[in-house]
Amino acid sequence: MDKINVNKLNLWYGSFQALKEVNAKFCANKITAIIGPSGCGKSTLLRTFNRMNDLVEGVRTSGEVVFEGRNILAAETDLVDLRKKIGMVFQRPNPFPLSIYENIAFGERVHGSGLKRDYLDGVVEESLKSVLLWDELKDKLNKPALRLSLEQKQRLCVARLIAVKPDVLLMDEPCSTLDPQATSRIEELMRELRNNYTIIIVTHNMQQAARVSDDTGFMLLGELIEFGRTEDIFTKPQDKRTEDYITGRYG
Ligand SMILES: Nc1ncnc2c1ncn2[C@@H]1O[C@H](COP(=O)(O)OP(=O)(O)O)[C@@H](O)[C@H]1O
Ligand SMILES: [Mg+2]
Repeated sequence: MDKINVNKLNLWYGSFQALKEVNAKFCANKITAIIGPSGCGKSTLLRTFNRMNDLVEGVRTSGEVVFEGRNILAAETDLVDLRKKIGMVFQRPNPFPLSIYENIAFGERVHGSGLKRDYLDGVVEESLKSVLLWDELKDKLNKPALRLSLEQKQRLCVARLIAVKPDVLLMDEPCSTLDPQATSRIEELMRELRNNYTIIIVTHNMQQAARVSDDTGFMLLGELIEFGRTEDIFTKPQDKRTEDYITGRYG
């Protein structure tokens, strides 16, 4: 089932066009990877899915990003609600300078659904369990999140998103600061989360895309050149430019 449907999406930063006529469908309970060289618009595309580009002055878009039957680019979209349903994990884990517990309770407090302690306790436990951090952190919930390891911080950021029960998880190079072991554990986590979420990951690591994703889109200079099943993209690309990229002919 399509979760997000992108139709003829264009985006300009001032006079510079960063996305050009992008069409794509992102499926529920799948992991879709967006690959391509640096500066080709991967992060920009990801950020349009929860309207993060709105924070940049002079951004203009045309086309549609349809989620739950509505074009989320429309002016009337409730951005708080949208970002609750479509959450983002960034390259550098960015926990708040708060305790582990408060990092996870934060979203519930903002979105205001019940502030009772035992309710929040339950959310914190469930969220930490779903990122496999509960056992190691359950006795340290009041410790500062900033003291965690990089991998733990990134997991915590995923747990913080999950706490508000999103639909879609956007991940922008979530492993780029992690070592290979931590990377492989995060990839394992993604595969587990796929059962409950739609995951879209930006990565310039092609091996990662091949390992973890069901579908892959290849971008170049703001265009989505090719989109399809990961296996097909990597074994029988239809476009010469995709082939050149996956065989290492671009940087
Ligand atoms: N806030 C911004 N203002 C102006 N140009 C930007 C901004 N963010 C990104 N760009 C430009 O848009 C293009 C795509 O950037 P980006 O989406 O970050 O690419 P990627 O994630 O693939 O490396 C690049 O040329 C970049 O310089
Ligand atoms: Mg980027």
